[in-house]
Amino acid sequence: MLSSVIMMLIYFLLWGSVIATHNTENSGSSQTPALPPDEMYQDMFPLTKTNFTDCVLRNMDPWILIFHAGAVERAWKTMATRLRGVCWVGTVDVTKETELVTILAYDESKGPFRVFPYGDRNRKENHWRNIEDENTARAVCVRTIPDEVLNMEEEEVKDIFMDSFMAKPTRFPVFLLQVEEETSSTFKALAKRFAKYFTFTKLVRPSSKQLKSIGIEQDNLDLPDMFVVITKEGQTNELNAVRFDKQKLGYFNYTNVMEFLFSVNNNYRHELPGDNLAHVRKHAEMIEIVNIEKKRFDIVSAGSSARLTRSKSKDTHTVRNNGDNENKVNYPEIPGLRDEL
Ligand SMILES: *[C@@H]1O[C@H](CO)[C@@H](O)[C@H](O)[C@H]1NC(C)=O
Ligand SMILES: *[C@@H]1O[C@H](CO)[C@@H](O)[C@H](O)[C@H]1NC(C)=O
Repeated sequence: MLSSVIMMLIYFLLWGSVIATHNTENSGSSQTPALPPDEMYQDMFPLTKTNFTDCVLRNMDPWILIFHAGAVERAWKTMATRLRGVCWVGTVDVTKETELVTILAYDESKGPFRVFPYGDRNRKENHWRNIEDENTARAVCVRTIPDEVLNMEEEEVKDIFMDSFMAKPTRFPVFLLQVEEETSSTFKALAKRFAKYFTFTKLVRPSSKQLKSIGIEQDNLDLPDMFVVITKEGQTNELNAVRFDKQKLGYFNYTNVMEFLFSVNNNYRHELPGDNLAHVRKHAEMIEIVNIEKKRFDIVSAGSSARLTRSKSKDTHTVRNNGDNENKVNYPEIPGLRDEL
């Protein structure tokens, strides 16, 4: 059924290349167990003086810190859930972590949130920002993630394939077909996380000419759509594509797409041309990514079939539904980090 979607000649390098959709039934994604309810994920990470620097400052990913006095509000948890995978959310219990609170020069009057932008320690130390409400905190945090998704308007298809196939390890070309001009924060975060293994390119409201250039000939596209280009036995004269099956995998959120990318990598890396490095476990299983993501998701890693399964642990935070600011704590003003995001 899906193969009717695509069947088209493209001219890649010296050969005409054929892209055909691959039925995801065989890609392994169908074996992935259902994900558990939202609450099962760990979305908020308690921070202490001991692990703050390692977790936040020595980490390129963006963070939102929430200062609280023993309990978190429902709305903050909702914010953390909405940011799942895209930004990390850390909590500092001001009643317990007094030293950290001092080091951070936390000022209650400036709001419970502090955003540490995407980037290295220097950037985090010099460009954090205090924020009063959770919606602004979320918006500010996701805005700091660089957009490395290529835009088809500005690229030659041939170059995308060349760059992907000549990289070491070989990268899978990924095409996002979407309506919006902007790359969503989910895909900004995913493109960064998976940059070593996948090259993301977006096609905004693609014309049929553009679609043809990547081998897709179809009238009834249901945007957003996503295709990962694969090869057989390293042959670039015939390309295939695996489509993200929304019916089966759900909508485009961080976990669903991540699961799909793990599945594609497990099943097709060894068939990629060039230095696919599928014989090296680190690359076959994308271990670096697993090591990062296993903090918030449980990822089953069994031989060549590493895949994302379910959540980490239950969040242990006490949730308070109404904010009350009774426990006022006075923090000394120690200017440590500058605020100028
Ligand atoms: C930081 O350390 C505390 C205490 O050991 C621990 O409970 C918490 O999970 C750690 N946070 C992270 C993000 O690892
Ligand atoms: C993505 O959607 C699935 C359902 O399709 C859900 O179980 C999962 O929690 C969602 N992930 C995120 C990051 O919101």
